[in-house]
Amino acid sequence: MESMGDLKRTHYLNQLTKADEGREVILMGWVLRRRDHGGVIFIDLRDRYGLTQVVFNPETNPEVHAKAHGLRSEWVLAVRGTVAVRPEGMTNTKMSTGEIEVMVDELRILNQSRTPPFPLDEEVEVNENLRLKYRYMDLRRPEMTKNLVIRHKACQAMRSFLHAKDFLEIETPVLTRSTPEGARDYLVPSRVNPGRFYALPQSPQLFKQLLMIAGMDRYYQIVRCFRDEDLRADRQPEFTQIDMELSFVNEEDMYEIGEGMMKALFSETMGREIKTPFPRITYAEAINRYGTDRPDTRFGLELTDLTATVENCGFKVFRTVVKKGGMVKSINARGCATFSRKDLDVLTEYVADFGARGLAWVKVKEDGEWQSPITKFFTDEERKAMAAKLDANPGDLLFFVADRPQVVHAALAELRLELARRLDLTSKDDFDLVWVTDFPLLEYDHEQKRHTAVHHPFTAPREEDIDLLESDPGQALSRAYDLVLNGIEIGGGSIRIHQKPLQDKVFRALGIDDDEAGDKFSFLLEALESGAPPHGGMAFGLDRLMMLLSGRDSIRDVIAFPKTQKASCPMTEAPSKVSRRQLTELSLKPDWKEQG
Ligand code: AMO
Ligand code: AMP
Repeated sequence: MESMGDLKRTHYLNQLTKADEGREVILMGWVLRRRDHGGVIFIDLRDRYGLTQVVFNPETNPEVHAKAHGLRSEWVLAVRGTVAVRPEGMTNTKMSTGEIEVMVDELRILNQSRTPPFPLDEEVEVNENLRLKYRYMDLRRPEMTKNLVIRHKACQAMRSFLHAKDFLEIETPVLTRSTPEGARDYLVPSRVNPGRFYALPQSPQLFKQLLMIAGMDRYYQIVRCFRDEDLRADRQPEFTQIDMELSFVNEEDMYEIGEGMMKALFSETMGREIKTPFPRITYAEAINRYGTDRPDTRFGLELTDLTATVENCGFKVFRTVVKKGGMVKSINARGCATFSRKDLDVLTEYVADFGARGLAWVKVKEDGEWQSPITKFFTDEERKAMAAKLDANPGDLLFFVADRPQVVHAALAELRLELARRLDLTSKDDFDLVWVTDFPLLEYDHEQKRHTAVHHPFTAPREEDIDLLESDPGQALSRAYDLVLNGIEIGGGSIRIHQKPLQDKVFRALGIDDDEAGDKFSFLLEALESGAPPHGGMAFGLDRLMMLLSGRDSIRDVIAFPKTQKASCPMTEAPSKVSRRQLTELSLKPDWKEQG
């Protein structure tokens, strides 16, 4: 193996063109591909920027050519050579350097490589655990490198947008107290305070409010948040927020900032101009029309409420559900009457996963007649009324779910998404942004037998709903908002409570008594009494945004070193065991069984 010595790189591997013909250059990079063509050896050399073909010719430089024979995938090279225009018919229009090649005069092997655990030169499906174990190899693949480049550009775009709007970037602690965002905390034991623990922040929520009270006026931070929750494709135990908070603002100011930032983001990372203002939908309307508070608005297939139409019908299932206070809702899958019995069975099983006890269906035939096991239970009038509400036409397939509202909405929301996938109704190139507003302030937790905050306990109720906190807390709406992109919640925030009496009231509605509030949040409550300005804010999920902008299906693809579904890292093998001594130092006495 050799050293770079006096060689200094002159170009990145995406830079050389016809205009450089005859120039002596020094290139460095990794061996992506090697081809031996009748004596001449071609190597595609790769770096972060691109590829350049370098050529070893046995006639012009036999010594270097002989050395090139030993080169293998992912070895690290430095080459000195001369730029030549490729012969007629040999140009490659797919690469920026496709018109040239570099005829090598000197080769230095800077390092060798083990055989790659998976091919890096093609887009093949590779087991994700293997990719994560050898992430430094995985990230060499251009499609992975690209994701990190876009992520960087996105952060740059948002930083400069916020900087231009007078935001200060301020860091907040990572070793802190529990923040009530609703997930489980990651705890860190304190050595010097035995029996005491820090919590890693679920978000900087309280600190950013304290920064407003400190007069900072506009704060932002690109910040890591930690939540010990069950993982999904769009959830990681540590993830990044673009977090912000502003003083003397209302909802309209927040929408304007959010929209401005999204506009800058799309324009500077993708060259796309998105339309502002974004549409808004209330939480109640979102649930009613889409069954979910994060509707994918790229396609229709909306839910229609048929409860009133079927309440007295002959189909016992529907009638009984309605009598018990449930509902019947329907989706018209236009043109889907061609679905087979098998399709319908699969879809019935699919919605069962979301709690539906059945999925009734009706195919509308060419003559307008209904084909369905349940047709016979309805009168002509009922059929007509349903068809009118659903705008049902020949060739349509109607789906019905009857149950408690929660189940109906969950099942039909998922059915809607599944239908869109089957019918290929969405494109990753379409970006539909929508604000969801007027969330309920509280929701009832049947396990804990008390109300919990839908957003977090510092979210302000709508002024007109403050009295409801005592009379009917579940009905109070909040000043919270979410931003949804293609059916994924990419951000959320609220106008906060800035006066202590109101914060006390909300704590009471949450069943948090004065002692508990004092114990957990006395610093906040004191601060609220120390000249807290009206304020509000929001946070965007950077990983989710990047997943959508990069057209990926998992946020793991846009994070350099993500965790698996089991919150572990196959590369470093974190979380790992620690020694008894470390535990003793932390005053921890383990009672778990040794594993593995
Ligand atoms: P919230 O909890 O809604 O709000 O989080 C804000 C945004 O962060 C993203 N997000 C996640 N991304 C990946 N993995 C996760 N586990 C995860 N959890 C959340 C989502 C979400 O919209 N302090 C408040 C904001 C505020 O009120 O200002 C907060 O954290 O895209
Ligand atoms: P059954 O009378 O149970 O054979 O059901 C007739 C049809 O109604 C079947 O297609 C079931 O899937 C459907 N069904 C049963 N329960 C429900 C329900 N709660 N909501 C919607 N459809 C249902």
